[in-house]
Amino acid sequence: MKITVLSLFPEMYENFLKTSIISRIIDKGNVEIKIVNIRDYSLDKHKHVDDTPYGGGAGMLMKVDVLHSALINNVDHHKTYAILTSPKAKPLKQKDLLRLSKLDDICIICGHYEGIDYRFEKYVDEKVSIGDYVLTGGELASMVLIDGILRLLDDSISKDSLKEESYINGLLEYPQYTRPVEYNGDRVPDVLQNGNHEEIRKFNLRNSLKETLKYRPDLLEKRQFSQEEKDLLGELINEL
Ligand SMILES: C[S@@+](CC[C@H](N)C(=O)[O-])C[C@H]1O[C@@H](n2cnc3c(N)ncnc32)[C@H](O)[C@@H]1O
Repeated sequence: MKITVLSLFPEMYENFLKTSIISRIIDKGNVEIKIVNIRDYSLDKHKHVDDTPYGGGAGMLMKVDVLHSALINNVDHHKTYAILTSPKAKPLKQKDLLRLSKLDDICIICGHYEGIDYRFEKYVDEKVSIGDYVLTGGELASMVLIDGILRLLDDSISKDSLKEESYINGLLEYPQYTRPVEYNGDRVPDVLQNGNHEEIRKFNLRNSLKETLKYRPDLLEKRQFSQEEKDLLGELINEL
């Protein structure tokens, strides 16, 4: 997979790309990440990348000619899927990351300042927001995308870790514990220590439903349940 990022602040990516799982995935050689400095595509000698908005209003907008030049000089628009980071889009979901992780060549464009000239939007395939809030720039949003996509690639982390993760099957993950078995009077549930896989599976499923009911009941509205899940959910609702 090839990921090209267009940003005014390439230095923000230095540690990110060198850290933990992300750097391991890149080192395996199946992912190429190129960070492009948008300022290199400024069209004037003062290296301007922004200008005041027509019609007035606060702040500066990134210029369409600079952004377009950065895009066409770094990616092939026939092959590359261009994603614009923007708070003006549907918030990113795990299913979007799954979809994007199947692509071979993507470009992520980071806005800054008050935003970008609207005319640039016609050169992108999709706008992605990472949530209903406004950040200073698209850099953190692009890192969220890169992190979320890379860990789903075939040779990244184990498929078993992904199988029961939050959102993958429409539920939040169940609570997990590690050593010590007791801390400040809180004990790891006995069932998780007894080695009975069926009991552990059922216990975890029940707790996964419980977490989802507590923190994200909206997820349950869209989900198809097995009979076992319906029974467990019925018990949990009765306990409330
Ligand atoms: C300060 S924001 C612009 C906000 C814009 N004036 C508005 O009200 O919608 C500057 C840039 O940060 C990025 N950005 C900010 N919030 C974001 C979010 N929630 N998701 C993705 N990108 C975001 C976008 O690239 C955006 O162009």
